[in-house]
Amino acid sequence: MVAFLGLAAVAFGTPAAPAGDLKIVKAEGAEKKPAVNYNHEKHNAVAPDCKSCHHTWDGEGAVKKCSECHKAKKDGKALGIKKALHKACKDCHKDQKKAGIKTGPTGCKDCHKK
Ligand code: HEC
Ligand code: HEC
Ligand code: HEC
Ligand code: HEC
Repeated sequence: MVAFLGLAAVAFGTPAAPAGDLKIVKAEGAEKKPAVNYNHEKHNAVAPDCKSCHHTWDGEGAVKKCSECHKAKKDGKALGIKKALHKACKDCHKDQKKAGIKTGPTGCKDCHKK
């Protein structure tokens, strides 16, 4: 996780992160739980490096949805959407909670909010 979050920062001229809450797009066929909110601004202090999440992005062009590659099931090398996004999101909240740091939700219904 540390290595995953430690990738190089991007240069000037990058598209801005969307303001406010966004609903992460569901993968087709993986739609059991309510979609999860993500707010870039609320994460600026802890996850400032765009490419720690947008790990296939060149830092200039359009930013792809995670579900374009992370499908309902593992596809080639790409983990299924649940495993990939739990790794990118839930693991940090869990680690920080364990360390006693104020962090985001770790309970299913607190992320998958109706
Ligand atoms: C902790 C993970 C994380 C970090 C860090 C992060 N993002 Fe995102 N970003 C997301 C997720 C998740 C989405 C929603 C994508 C989806 O629906 O598949 C998103 C969506 C976006 C979108 C909209 C893409 C679209 O759907 O059109 C843009 C643009 C974007 N991010 C830019 C950035 C930039 C610029 C940074 C760095 C300042 C950044 N992001 C940092 C997780 C992150
Ligand atoms: C263009 C395709 C593509 C997009 C878009 C994409 N991924 Fe991935 N992702 C992959 C592939 C392929 C792998 C496996 C190989 C690798 O690690 O690069 C992977 C691996 C991962 C891993 C596992 C890394 C590890 O430590 O093993 C995580 C977590 C992840 N992606 C999260 C995300 C998130 C979050 C988004 C959206 C913000 C996203 N991915 C967007 C293709 C993609
Ligand atoms: C590096 C650690 C880290 C990562 C990675 C991370 N978070 Fe968080 N998250 C936090 C912290 C810290 C807070 C508390 C921020 C605050 O309250 O100011 C938080 C707060 C939240 C909240 C509650 C605040 C709100 O917006 O309603 C949600 C929901 C959330 N995160 C979802 C996500 C999702 C979805 C992802 C993956 C795309 C993600 N987080 C990735 C650390 C992280
Ligand atoms: C930190 C936030 C977070 C927590 C906590 C969390 N998830 Fe998720 N989960 C996500 C994200 C982000 C996705 C990918 C986007 C989506 O499908 O909404 C996802 C996807 C999934 C999927 C695949 C999509 C679907 O709807 O079928 C399932 C199933 C799932 N989670 C179950 C759970 C369960 C069960 C728990 C509790 C044990 C849980 N999640 C806790 C963030 C979270």
